[in-house]
Amino acid sequence: MSVLITGANGFLGYYLTDLLLQKGHQVIATGRGECRLPFHGRQDFQYIPMDFTEPAAILSVFERCKPETVVHAGAMSKPDDCELNQELAFNINVQGTANVLQASEKHQSFFILVSSDFVFDGERGMYREHDKPNPVSYYGSTKLQAELAVQQYIFDWSIIRTVLVYGRPITGRSNLLSIVKEKLEKGEEYCVVDDQLRTPTYVEDLATGIAAVIEIKAKGIFHVSGEEVLTPYQMAIRTAEYLKLDSSLIKRVTAADFSQPAKRPPRTGFVIDKAKKQFGFHPVSFEIGLEKTFNGQK
Ligand SMILES: NC(=O)c1ccc[n+]([C@@H]2O[C@H](COP(=O)([O-])OP(=O)(O)OC[C@H]3O[C@@H](n4cnc5c(N)ncnc54)[C@H](OP(=O)(O)O)[C@@H]3O)[C@@H](O)[C@H]2O)c1
Repeated sequence: MSVLITGANGFLGYYLTDLLLQKGHQVIATGRGECRLPFHGRQDFQYIPMDFTEPAAILSVFERCKPETVVHAGAMSKPDDCELNQELAFNINVQGTANVLQASEKHQSFFILVSSDFVFDGERGMYREHDKPNPVSYYGSTKLQAELAVQQYIFDWSIIRTVLVYGRPITGRSNLLSIVKEKLEKGEEYCVVDDQLRTPTYVEDLATGIAAVIEIKAKGIFHVSGEEVLTPYQMAIRTAEYLKLDSSLIKRVTAADFSQPAKRPPRTGFVIDKAKKQFGFHPVSFEIGLEKTFNGQK
């Protein structure tokens, strides 16, 4: 199957491209600027620069490639950046999604949006797919607006929401685990909140969930995350212990004493029964996720 990925240079983009190639799909990786992916020279892989805030560029790429499936993974993904640059965040996350949807419609592509637990307010936690979104940050609001646009798409669509993704960043953004390693190796303190609950997601599990959705053409909204409920502080401590680094450098803070531009939902985390039932999704434990992230790097 031909799969076009947006934001393919990102953290998830690398792992998703790698997995889809392993599974025998034809991957059209698109991203901002030059290719940062190491898959050149393969017959089943091509990289095309495509900024999805430019409708004409998207239309011409789609005309050339006619993708059967589109995974819209590209986004302005950091909540604080979105809070501080709202016009840009709207243009990328909301208008950008509308642009990709428009081109997909011309080719009747199966459209998959990667979305976030930040569409919820975090008052209750352990959300199911049908729970009512109510974002508390601008990032969350842009992801929800993108979801609502996808739900108007006239051909097949799926929305895959995920939670606090971790793993080894090959391309794209850093994450809690990689930041802990970096800071503690330099002997720097790191303040981490202990009053937010999440079900952190190992990046390869997320890629596996997306690949399954593509292969069985699962339609609708799916929650795809880990199963263990942890605070970011607990994750940081376990990372330090796993790496045998000085965990006393990790300072426990609460959201109230930690000033960040974007408000975070206090308790998210997902019930993943639907993904388990419909496509056999089985995430690794956080312990195994740690091993996979750092194997050979201790
Ligand atoms: N990481 C998490 O914890 C998490 C949690 C929930 C949901 N998500 C969602 O998961 C998806 C993947 O995120 P990620 O973790 O892989 O983040 P990432 O590393 O920041 O990847 C996002 C990619 O989108 C690209 N992008 C941004 N604007 C673009 C544009 N106008 N045209 C083309 N590409 C553009 C970025 O390009 P540059 O590399 O040039 O900046 C980046 O490579 C996003 O939709 C995010 O909202 C992530």
